[in-house]
Amino acid sequence: MFAKLAISGALVLLFAGGARAETIAEKAQVCAGCHGENGKPVDKTIPTIWGQQAGYLYIQLRDFKRGDRKSEIMQPIASTFERDDMLAIAEYFSQKPWPDLGQPRASKEVAEKAINASRSVGCPACHLDRFQGDGTVPRLAGMGRDYLAKTIADFRTRARANNPGMSDLMLATSPDDLAALVDYLAGL
Ligand code: HEC
Ligand code: HEC
Repeated sequence: MFAKLAISGALVLLFAGGARAETIAEKAQVCAGCHGENGKPVDKTIPTIWGQQAGYLYIQLRDFKRGDRKSEIMQPIASTFERDDMLAIAEYFSQKPWPDLGQPRASKEVAEKAINASRSVGCPACHLDRFQGDGTVPRLAGMGRDYLAKTIADFRTRARANNPGMSDLMLATSPDDLAALVDYLAGL
């Protein structure tokens, strides 16, 4: 790389980009302890961040730092980052491949119940047809089962208070339908 630096200005720019990516990769090293070395969280109560939408990841880091989304674990970690770090970290993880957690597909009966509930609430209007998410709306397909159940419960009690609109929607959906949705989404 250094040898090539003399050749053109464009390569100097490339080099600068590479050096920055390294710093972010270093900052991201600490995340692997819980969110997984290979993108598979160390347990299913921890969300997948590899391959998640960048806009969504950024907003969560920002909200943890502000304390709008409470977490004794994530708040101190996010507090060490400035806005630019959060944007770069969000971008970094969004470009990794989404891991296959190998969770079982929901049974036909459960899947039908989930699809009906999701149509009547309109989840796909925001999370999109295959629950891949977009921008600040998260991907849900293939997310850890226990994490989905926990965060939905947290929306319902408003322990997760960073998006009151999602809390309203979750409260308007029956616990039965939500249980079916958790199984269905985890198995996608
Ligand atoms: C000690 C374990 C641990 C470490 C280290 C850790 N996290 Fe987390 N992270 C969690 C847990 C647990 C949650 C779920 C918090 C909750 O909802 O209560 C979480 C949630 C998140 C979320 C929200 C995801 C979603 O789907 O809503 C993001 C984004 C995140 N972490 C990013 C990071 C980044 C980036 C790093 C490294 C700089 C990191 N985490 C380090 C345990 C950890
Ligand atoms: C009006 C748009 C909209 C609709 C409709 C909607 N969502 Fe969401 N959902 C969002 C947004 C935006 C977020 C991110 C909230 C945040 O920033 O914390 C979210 C977050 C979530 C999360 C948290 C994911 C994570 O990684 O922590 C779950 C789970 C979820 N939605 C499930 C659902 C389900 C199930 C439905 C239908 C019953 C639904 N949503 C309907 C917009 C929507």
